[in-house]
Amino acid sequence: MANSHSDALVLFGATGDLAYKKIFPALQALVRAGQLDAPVIGVALSGWDVERLRARVRDSLKAHGLADDRASDRLCDLLRYVDGDYRDKTTFRRVGEALGGAQRPLHYLAIPPSMFPTVIEGLGALDSTRAARVVVEKPFGRDLASARSLNGILHRVFEERAIFRIDHYLGKEPAQNLLYFRFANSFLEPLWNRNHVAGVQITMAEEFGVEGRGRFYEEVGALRDVVQNHMLQVVAMLALEPPVGYSADALRDEKTKVFKSVRTLTGKSLVRGQYQGYRDEDGVAKDSPVETFAAMQVHLDSWRWSGVPFFIRAGKHLPLTATEVMVELRRPPHNVFGGELPPNCNYLRFRLGPGHVAIAMGALSKKPGAEMKGDEVELYVCNTRDDEAGAYERLIGDAMKGDATLFAREDGVEEAWRIVDPVLRKPTPVHVYERGSWGPAQAGKMTEKLGGWHAPQAQAR
Ligand code: BG6
Repeated sequence: MANSHSDALVLFGATGDLAYKKIFPALQALVRAGQLDAPVIGVALSGWDVERLRARVRDSLKAHGLADDRASDRLCDLLRYVDGDYRDKTTFRRVGEALGGAQRPLHYLAIPPSMFPTVIEGLGALDSTRAARVVVEKPFGRDLASARSLNGILHRVFEERAIFRIDHYLGKEPAQNLLYFRFANSFLEPLWNRNHVAGVQITMAEEFGVEGRGRFYEEVGALRDVVQNHMLQVVAMLALEPPVGYSADALRDEKTKVFKSVRTLTGKSLVRGQYQGYRDEDGVAKDSPVETFAAMQVHLDSWRWSGVPFFIRAGKHLPLTATEVMVELRRPPHNVFGGELPPNCNYLRFRLGPGHVAIAMGALSKKPGAEMKGDEVELYVCNTRDDEAGAYERLIGDAMKGDATLFAREDGVEEAWRIVDPVLRKPTPVHVYERGSWGPAQAGKMTEKLGGWHAPQAQAR
């Protein structure tokens, strides 16, 4: 089964937001690339028929500026639709009928997490389950206990190798480039440890708020929404040991080792924030304690990283939208030229998007003239644009092939929950911050010793 391509795609939640925003454009790209030529069965309880679903797909493609061409026609030809309640056994019988002779379907659960157990149980009753695969959207649980329970429910029906837990950050091109850059070059390795790295900062800034997703956000907050998954995955990619090869288990073994080395958060270094006006958003409680900003230090108890602070901050309504990593190197042990060297001028910077992608090295270079004084310069390894379209295309294509390299594994996902679990329950203060600021002032103090937070720049550089 491991190397066989899925011969149908069943999309639960076909009439929902995620399908419209991310999945349909990805499916069209897969059709165009010749990687999808199997029935696509949409399932939902919306009272729709297949024509209505086709119209929705065309609408989504148009909204994403994707040409109405042969690939979209082909995608519409591949569509089937089953309207039904997930709690009703006949819905699954009809999914079975729509699958026809397909033996190896990929079931994609683009549905609210509360419905995961019901749908997984329904899938267990299908004849094709033995060779089927399942893609589970985030959030994968809401704490350690619920993630364990969801893993248990999944394993009653699917083997681990058939389970694909999505974290779309892993499908992003710049995230893969980070890994590639680390292990395709030799010059980095001698520097990449506690002897040379002074600290690591990861900033995921979003200029916008919850954008109509207030009800969803009330259930999650920044820690569950982006820290437990996207941010910790970036920590793992920065910190992992060289995998023995680029295979699903080799890479995920190393990632799990990183997660295991991360100390459980106690809340001591955690700063939570909430943007001004969050409580006026639709679906948000007037006294909501939910954080839209979180900043923290994580400690890695490992040979390579012991004592190196890793700082994470993520928030909504910050000054711009950008995800950036700064790996700050230690200062030269002695300034041969006298005077003060500027702080933080030797670093590796990874701009992970959106739109703008870069890997750059910060250095000092002598200013022309008689004095031995320097200018801060950046040397670019790459400085490009990313069309952002590729992550879902890549991940769905991989899941259809049975390649789990870019998906979270059971042990990794549980370790990542273990790290944040106590602070999810602990009511630490939530500081209100102005929209368009870098979050609560309390977060600023955290990085003082290292010269403060690095602010990603708006302009491409
Ligand atoms: C999602 C979160 O997982 O990631 C959103 O639910 C967040 O709140 C989004 O905005 C960010 O992803 P991207 O790819 O747009 O940077």
